[in-house]
Amino acid sequence: MRISKRVMQIQPSATLELSAKAKQMKSEGIDVINLGVGEPDFNTPKNIKAAAIRAIKEGKSDFYTSATGINELKKAICIRTATDFGVNYEPNQVAVTVGGKFSLYVLAQTLLDEGDEVLIPLPYWVSYGEQVKLAGGVPVFVTPENGLKVTVEELENARTDRSRIVIINSPQNPSGLIYTRDELEAIGNWAVAHDIVIITDDMYGKLVYNGAHFVSLIELSDEIRKQTILVSGLSKAYSMTGWRIGYTIAPAEVIKKMGALIGHATSNLAAVSQYAALEALTGPQEVVEDMRNAFEERLNKIYPELTALPGVTLENKPQGAFYLFPNVKETVKLTGFASTAEFVAALLSEAHVAVVVGSAFGMSDHIRMSYATDLESLEEAVKRIKAFIEKRM
Ligand SMILES: Cc1ncc(COP(=O)(O)O)c(C=O)c1O
Repeated sequence: MRISKRVMQIQPSATLELSAKAKQMKSEGIDVINLGVGEPDFNTPKNIKAAAIRAIKEGKSDFYTSATGINELKKAICIRTATDFGVNYEPNQVAVTVGGKFSLYVLAQTLLDEGDEVLIPLPYWVSYGEQVKLAGGVPVFVTPENGLKVTVEELENARTDRSRIVIINSPQNPSGLIYTRDELEAIGNWAVAHDIVIITDDMYGKLVYNGAHFVSLIELSDEIRKQTILVSGLSKAYSMTGWRIGYTIAPAEVIKKMGALIGHATSNLAAVSQYAALEALTGPQEVVEDMRNAFEERLNKIYPELTALPGVTLENKPQGAFYLFPNVKETVKLTGFASTAEFVAALLSEAHVAVVVGSAFGMSDHIRMSYATDLESLEEAVKRIKAFIEKRM
């Protein structure tokens, strides 16, 4: 059967593919440690599950909702945003979607015309470029000269008359780095000056470690906030990946058009998930802190062990999210592999440790390792990687 040109040009999600392969190996009885996953290893907190069960019992989850979500939830998102960032929005500026992923997808469809360019700093989250292409846009990847964060000068060098959007993700997947207030201010003012819409992907905003402070672009000046669309969700901070809860905060006219599209695509996020989200945002927040603490402990334990491995470099310790993104160029050379992809494939088949190749994020000398897994498995994984490297040196 003929497949559309539009879909033929996209690649499957490398992270989802890898997870599927690791799961398949596990089901065959192989003791795989999967550091490829992009989801917390904790169950959803009990109070959230109980609220969902209550919603089912009370029949609240039995029907369609408005395309952009139930009003109580949109209000709760506004209140949480005001509490966390001191910025006020109205429910008509909020759309609840099937994951943050679908917020980003719908935004690309809503904002882009054929040939419009979207500036995407490297390293990037796997779906940005593909979503832009599916909307007829052109992803323009911007490589940082130094380190893993782009500067405003690098964005300016990539800007053309067709530049319409820049996507900023902080804390960043895959590096865990955070853009500072000064860096964001420079990018924000540049975007305002050139009328470029900023999409800020704040998915990991609550997961920051060792005293690091997360600043969202919406907290900066009024001018920057007006130019900014925020995407976030409950998957990571509340350990709710399976519930698929994401949201967009944008100007009311954008939300209205997103609602029209959502109405023809998914109708709405499953009502039961919306009631669960309501509890997550309005109930006790200690659960988030408990999970954040666990991630911080793992990061602090594993970072020195990882950087001590032969050839592995990771100058800037991650400050957020739950990933490490070391450069392994030297390690690949030392072990005699022709590429990072070959190194990663052998690591999985021989040492039974799954990590993601950096090329999935635009940087082929790197690998991404998630520490959203228990400490014991993490330490065992590093031991296996060490043995795997030393055997081949
Ligand atoms: C940077 C980033 N943005 C957005 C998402 C989307 O998450 P979800 O669709 O589960 O809300 C993810 C998930 O991996 C992510 O890492």
